[in-house]
Amino acid sequence: MTALLRLHGVQKSYGQRRLLEIETLEIAEASAYVLTGMNGSGKSTLLRILSGLEAASIREAHYLGQQFSLAPYPQRLRQEIVYVHQHPVMFSGTVAQNIGYGLQLRRERQLAHKVAQAMEWAGVSHLQRHAARTLSGGEKQRVALARAKVLQARLLLLDEPTANLDGAAREQVMALIPSLTQSGGSVIVACHDRDLIALPQVHRLKLRDGRLEYR
Ligand SMILES: Nc1ncnc2c1ncn2[C@@H]1O[C@H](COP(=O)(O)OP(=O)(O)O)[C@@H](O)[C@H]1O
Ligand SMILES: [Mg+2]
Repeated sequence: MTALLRLHGVQKSYGQRRLLEIETLEIAEASAYVLTGMNGSGKSTLLRILSGLEAASIREAHYLGQQFSLAPYPQRLRQEIVYVHQHPVMFSGTVAQNIGYGLQLRRERQLAHKVAQAMEWAGVSHLQRHAARTLSGGEKQRVALARAKVLQARLLLLDEPTANLDGAAREQVMALIPSLTQSGGSVIVACHDRDLIALPQVHRLKLRDGRLEYR
């Protein structure tokens, strides 16, 4: 099967410090991955590189079998790879407006219907007219997931989506993650080991000393 994304020779340094030295990163279609590693091991940096938010040296890159360069970051990948920040930024306006924003930029049809579906999926329909900036951390994270899901990304990159949550808020966010691959997309979740328990059928990646281990 053709991989969704395959990178060889990924190197990233900050000043004198070599942070990442990854020989191969391969992401299959419709698959879920968890990315673990100690604080500061480079999880966020790697996700940001994949989404074009951070530059890196990459020897060879393929997307759906086609060779491409990440510099400049291709427009197609900008549409198909979506990064969700640990502390998602809410735009001013309502929850529904936040979720529909990307679709509106793309001038997609059936906007209201797609937004309604995404809100239902994320369990935030009852908040649709609330100002997004006034939501709790867990609610914001679910809105951010709905905002990403509605774009039908091929690859979603979730950066510690549950790190700042506990109790029911954490469980609600965790419960959404497995279903992200059901529509054929892939997802990489940077998280801590204890978060893995609730995630069925995931591939495990670990960053250690800049290298990527498949476990
Ligand atoms: N813009 C930057 N300039 C210099 N150092 C950075 C920058 N961004 C991240 N780092 C450093 O790179 C290391 C990895 O950071 P990060 O990718 O955030 O790790 P993780 O997400 O695994 O905790 C940390 O030591 C961090 O301080
Ligand atoms: Mg991080």
